[in-house]
Amino acid sequence: MNKSNLRLFNRSVRKIKNILNPVIDISDEYTSLLCGINAGWLERGNLYSLNYAIEHLPSGSPIIEIGSFCGLSTNLIGYYKEKHGVTNKLINCDKWEWNNSGPMGNSRISIADYLIYAQNTYMGNVQTFSGNDLPHTIKEFSDDFFRMWRAGEEVEDIFGRKTKLGGPISFAFVDGNHEYEFAKNDFLHTDEFLESGGFLLFDDSADGTEWEVSRVRDEVIATKRYEIIIKNPNYLFRKH
Ligand SMILES: C[S@@+](CC[C@H](N)C(=O)[O-])C[C@H]1O[C@@H](n2cnc3c(N)ncnc32)[C@H](O)[C@@H]1O
Repeated sequence: MNKSNLRLFNRSVRKIKNILNPVIDISDEYTSLLCGINAGWLERGNLYSLNYAIEHLPSGSPIIEIGSFCGLSTNLIGYYKEKHGVTNKLINCDKWEWNNSGPMGNSRISIADYLIYAQNTYMGNVQTFSGNDLPHTIKEFSDDFFRMWRAGEEVEDIFGRKTKLGGPISFAFVDGNHEYEFAKNDFLHTDEFLESGGFLLFDDSADGTEWEVSRVRDEVIATKRYEIIIKNPNYLFRKH
């Protein structure tokens, strides 16, 4: 089977699986309206997992998010925090820098322009929808973010506020670079700080996904230190 036939085959298998195991979608009026105006890549099943993790946080330690893009998941985390009266800080990172900064396809717009726009819309989106509980957003790649976390550094976030990094983490939503090496590092670094009973949600980790995150997902399972809480269809783990 050639690559494109294999892709078609995998897609069909996923569709059949979705019919047999439908994704639980807890979209409501707010989340539907938000998704209409706040750009982003959201698997609707993540709503259920985000809501679950935030409702069952083991402590008041920070929540972290890797890969914020235009702030859709950030605002959803904020929404579920408010819903459950959770006051844990949300600290997230994105550098809005990709390997490729050249033209977007055949257009006159470059990826570099696209990412400047993404950061600007991120700031507007979270100021509008999470303005009462702004996340602490650090403009760094996740490897550097975790290095600063380990060192307990005090850094300035993109809104000009001093933010102290470090200490235990209660929940990590990992949605940064999906290549194996990066996703693996995000897991190893999260694992270093995630407390017992803490949650880990990997975007694009569903069974049958073509993303390399699936290799990391299998390695998380192989540690036997994580319980699978939800597959909807992405994996939400809780650390023993
Ligand atoms: C799939 S998008 C995130 C989508 C977002 N969570 C949402 O709700 O729409 C991935 C994001 O990760 C960022 N990213 C890529 N590599 C990263 C890295 N090494 N560290 C942190 N963020 C990274 C990208 O700039 C991009 O904004």
